[in-house]
Amino acid sequence: MHAVGIVAAAGSGLRLGAELPKALVPLGGRPLVCWAVESLRAGGVEQVVVAVPASQLAAFTAVLPDDVHVVVGGDTRTASVRAALAAAREHADAVLVHDAARPLTPSDVVARVLAALAGGARAVVPVLPVVDTTVVVDADGVVTADVPRAPLRRVQTPQGFDRATLVAAYAHAQGAAAEFTDDASVVRAAGITVETVPGDERAAKITVAHDLRMAELQTERPR
Ligand code: CTP
Ligand code: MG
Repeated sequence: MHAVGIVAAAGSGLRLGAELPKALVPLGGRPLVCWAVESLRAGGVEQVVVAVPASQLAAFTAVLPDDVHVVVGGDTRTASVRAALAAAREHADAVLVHDAARPLTPSDVVARVLAALAGGARAVVPVLPVVDTTVVVDADGVVTADVPRAPLRRVQTPQGFDRATLVAAYAHAQGAAAEFTDDASVVRAAGITVETVPGDERAAKITVAHDLRMAELQTERPR
């Protein structure tokens, strides 16, 4: 199976509040985007396409390995993945879509996603259980219901797809009113079954400054 990796790195990182776009922010001295590319490769992905902010093309090209294909992303994550998908080579039969914001994703997670695709899944996501009590609140912040958490999962990346399935799902979603926060929802909107494999806490997304501090602690110790 030939797998191509897409790294969504075109966000600005508003919630992190750094001076650089989030994917260029260093972790252990290396930009987040470089960590994400490396985890995909370590897990068995061959070619990698990275979607970057239009204004930062040169900065990303300077830090990424020469054999990484860099494309200009879009205003939303969905638009960025769509741009990268158009550049992904056609003879790949699988596509793994990953967030640059998940730098410490172990290669095992990538390998599990690839194995599920090799086993026949058309779409697969790494997931973790929800450990906190989870509730619904109203507009005033008053709790109105408990949510049974046993069937709930937190979805991570990389998310794996049969390439033709993902391309068709993105074509199906073109012009859809809904905003998608990941690729599995794009595929599910096209009626495709999405399977799951175990994720890993180390694949956590860096969203706010605290997340980056936690990741720095992990890079200081053997992983
Ligand atoms: N992303 C992207 N293109 C966009 C928006 C987001 O490729 N237009 C990418 C980000 O670079 C990130 C991933 O999607 O790797 C997950 O998004 P998120 O964590 O929300 O990152 P940002 O959008 O950069 O952060 P924020 O929402 O805080 O601005
Ligand atoms: Mg965002």
